[in-house]
Amino acid sequence: MFKEKFSEGIISAKQFNREDIEYILKQGRKMIRVKNSHILNGKILATLFFEPSTRTRLSFESAMYRLGGNVIGFHSADVSSFKKGESIADTIRTVQNYSDCIVMRNPLEGAAILASRFANIPIINAGSGSGEHPTQALLDLLTIKEECGTIDGLNIGIVGDLKYGRTAHSLSLLLSNFEVNIYFISPRELSLRNRYKAYLQERKIKYKEITRYRNILDILDVLYMTRIQKERFVDQEEYEKVKSAYVFNEEDLEKTKENFKLMHPLPRITEIHPNVDTYSDKAIYFKQTGYGLALRKAILAELMID
Ligand code: NCD
Repeated sequence: MFKEKFSEGIISAKQFNREDIEYILKQGRKMIRVKNSHILNGKILATLFFEPSTRTRLSFESAMYRLGGNVIGFHSADVSSFKKGESIADTIRTVQNYSDCIVMRNPLEGAAILASRFANIPIINAGSGSGEHPTQALLDLLTIKEECGTIDGLNIGIVGDLKYGRTAHSLSLLLSNFEVNIYFISPRELSLRNRYKAYLQERKIKYKEITRYRNILDILDVLYMTRIQKERFVDQEEYEKVKSAYVFNEEDLEKTKENFKLMHPLPRITEIHPNVDTYSDKAIYFKQTGYGLALRKAILAELMID
């Protein structure tokens, strides 16, 4: 069923209803215990990364190898024919002959949807400019579910660059399937775009927009920090003004509930002080990367097993 519904791939978090999310989290949970298997033997995954990546590409590639499959791809726009002026549509119509599924990251917001229109194999959006990053949001939910035991009923803060941050966008869209209170915390100039707020309003999700998190640390169950997206600013002076808006430190941690969890999609720059990492039960961003591997194994298996 999942395979049929997502036959064109995973482009946006909006494709997922609650049932789809619960299903893929269940499959992701099973994959936590599967180290190696042969279920994707003979299958080929193409990873086309036109933008930098550490976790997303390596976890997809590791997941593919661990399930017995193979990987082809490129990791810089400079070494592909994009450099010669080739369009996304032409690249996709070529690579689909060589693989069973394509994972693509591209600086254009519409890149993934465009790719899926031309492809006859599933496209997984691994980050489309300042648009979306749906598999990151799925792994974030797997992390919350496994670490907090539930998603419903939680007070969740999402902090940082809510204007350009694609992980924050996809996470907000997915959370709209749950009964949560969301606190969007950002400098005013980096607040969540209206299109995401309208979606949440339509779905009657309770949210508040604030500029500081310190006053609400004692009520939060999860705080999801994000990086200010330097590369998306047209004016670097504007970036300089907001780059240090938030630095979560040990004192902040002291004010949090016993079961509080601090998350981050990573990379972290200065928004979480490294001293915080030693509180390993509350700072779970490295564990989160492990859940990412499990979740991506589940996605690849669902999309590619015949
Ligand atoms: C994020 C991204 O690329 O959007 N990284 C990731 O995939 N874990 C977050 C970021 O770059 O800030």
